[in-house]
Amino acid sequence: MKKNFPNIRLRRLRNNSPIRNLIRENILSPHDLIQPIFIIEGNNKTEKIKSMPDIYRMSIDIAIKEIKILKKLGIQGIALFPCIEKKYKDIQGTESFNQDGLMQRAIRSIKKSVKDIAIISDVALDPYTVHGQDGILGANKEILNDETIEVLVKQSLSHAECGVDIIAPSDMMDGRIKAIRKSLEKNKFIDTKILSYAAKYSSNFYGPFRDAVGSVKNLGALNKDTYQMDYANKKDSMREVEMDISEGADIIMIKPGMPYLDILRRVKDELKAPTFVYQVSGEYAMHCAAFDNKWLNREQIIMESLMAFKRAGADGILTYFAKEAAQLLKGID
Ligand code: PBG
Repeated sequence: MKKNFPNIRLRRLRNNSPIRNLIRENILSPHDLIQPIFIIEGNNKTEKIKSMPDIYRMSIDIAIKEIKILKKLGIQGIALFPCIEKKYKDIQGTESFNQDGLMQRAIRSIKKSVKDIAIISDVALDPYTVHGQDGILGANKEILNDETIEVLVKQSLSHAECGVDIIAPSDMMDGRIKAIRKSLEKNKFIDTKILSYAAKYSSNFYGPFRDAVGSVKNLGALNKDTYQMDYANKKDSMREVEMDISEGADIIMIKPGMPYLDILRRVKDELKAPTFVYQVSGEYAMHCAAFDNKWLNREQIIMESLMAFKRAGADGILTYFAKEAAQLLKGID
């Protein structure tokens, strides 16, 4: 290619802030952000999470107050994760579809108390099983795909009945989107949306989350390699996402976030579906550790890491920094 210097000086468009603002390709807004929220039983209760500074498990009443603040900041969606008391856990995860369970009560109360915010509910069995796996176990402790789907369908339907806006299966069983969609249609929940954790890798970055929902000890030294994806694979993510879209997913998700931007970019470019990304608990913990040590600047790094998702093609970002980022964005004129 012909070199056109000095006709072309790329730095011309970088030399003052109005020019940089005018030519900027991506804009981050509170509308892009979704705050994950951990729910516990009780009243007026909050609990610290050791590996996630400034993130708390909250009883439903406190969560409602928090969600009202998030809404005022312009955030449009929250993702609910329950921390289930030990006495309700069993090998089949039956508490997951209890119509009076923690998640179901949370969805109903939030729906009643906060207007115009999308509630996203996690569909998976790991908070409800004594073994911490996302599925039903067979005789040799293998995860039984089709048996698990039956429970996931009941769980999804119970959330839909509570008025959830978006059901988010995060379990990675084959064929669960098709089964969930079929049952939603059959029961006339035609507007309930499905956000599929479609390309979800078997990642070591989920550690702090498992701590937060109390599944870490139950899972022990075992992992989720037989259902979550091998992090060495890229083509596999296309097959996973295509399959979930064809089965009726409205939105698909890539997870984790920052170490998987290549997957996000490819999925968005090739499949063109609404695509979310999850900046997961381990990424959050890693950032916080560097902030606490004053190795990285908190506000600047939060903005840069979230913008990286937009640049890579994300339409929505689940992040534990959602509230803080929305506050920072409000301060920008
Ligand atoms: C469980 C689930 C996980 C996360 C979201 N839903 C953990 C896992 O698969 O073990 C991880 C989120 C995070 O790390 O922030 N089905």
